[in-house]
Amino acid sequence: MQIDAESLNRQLLSWYDAHARVMPWRVSPQDRAMGTRPDPYRVWLSEVMLQQTTVAAVRDYFHRFTARWPDVASLAAAPDTDVMGEWAGLGYYARARNLLKCARAVVADHGGRFPATREGLLTLPGIGPYTASAIAAIAYDEPATVVDGNVERVMARMFLVETPLPAAKPELTALAERLTPQHRPGDYAQAVMDLGATICTPRSPACAICPWTHSCEARAARVQADLPRKAAKGEKPLRRGKVWVGHREGALLLERRPERGLLGGMLGFPGDGWDGAGGDAPAKADWQEIGEVRHTFTHFHLILQVLVAPVEGEALRGDWARLKPSDLPTVMRKAYDLARGTLDS
Ligand code: ADE
Repeated sequence: MQIDAESLNRQLLSWYDAHARVMPWRVSPQDRAMGTRPDPYRVWLSEVMLQQTTVAAVRDYFHRFTARWPDVASLAAAPDTDVMGEWAGLGYYARARNLLKCARAVVADHGGRFPATREGLLTLPGIGPYTASAIAAIAYDEPATVVDGNVERVMARMFLVETPLPAAKPELTALAERLTPQHRPGDYAQAVMDLGATICTPRSPACAICPWTHSCEARAARVQADLPRKAAKGEKPLRRGKVWVGHREGALLLERRPERGLLGGMLGFPGDGWDGAGGDAPAKADWQEIGEVRHTFTHFHLILQVLVAPVEGEALRGDWARLKPSDLPTVMRKAYDLARGTLDS
């Protein structure tokens, strides 16, 4: 396939110079041209937060994290529960545990500085090929190829790749590599992601204002909105479960979940395992069913029955604590919001 990478780069970078999104962790193309370098800590933190999450959802979390922990050393020194608490609501909690592991490894093994190459970054806990490439390109201007869902969509359309995802991944990565420039690779990486997020969007791509519109093969074939194709996915299974919200003198019965598995390391109300096997209430009490909450995880939908009771006797599981609701992951927060009207203050 004939690809004029140089002219595509030129078109994309001039579009980015005019339209780069403003993000709290980003150095604008103008500032970058003047020599400002992004802080690898902020780039790393933003990239971990952005995995599976939108820019809009990440912004406030990023501000709170960097206000509280302005550099990798302060984050590495933070207690686990503080970090898990700040992460609550962002989802995919293994990311937060890996974030801490990574910060501590940077301090313990690298003198508090992130390694400056993709290879070096890959040795850190929680940093996979995508994140290593993104940090290497954005923070250090290494010509590493960054491929996320946005970039896959852009490549599938530009080069009319009809193979469905995920089988198409190697081909899409190879195409993205052929376009990755030696000149301004950091701006380029961010530009393709911005293009995918703002113009080459999943449903109605804005081809009329796309800097690559004249080279786009899917557009020429009028199939851009149908690409990338995706292998049919099975329906997510539906699971049912229970949580028990026990209260006593303004305190709630809470449990920190095991490190491994769903909502690992997060705070929550004791439950019955949510696997259909059933389980016992965490205390003897007059449990009242007050309703249900629904939540969707990556691999299943959950309908959670919420039970509430004042607890007088001994609790068999969990600890009594005053709750800071923002410390809860979203599904537990939904249960709390349903229960709070029935709790004593
Ligand atoms: N999505 C994930 N990382 C991004 C970045 N650095 N710029 C734009 N979109 C992104």
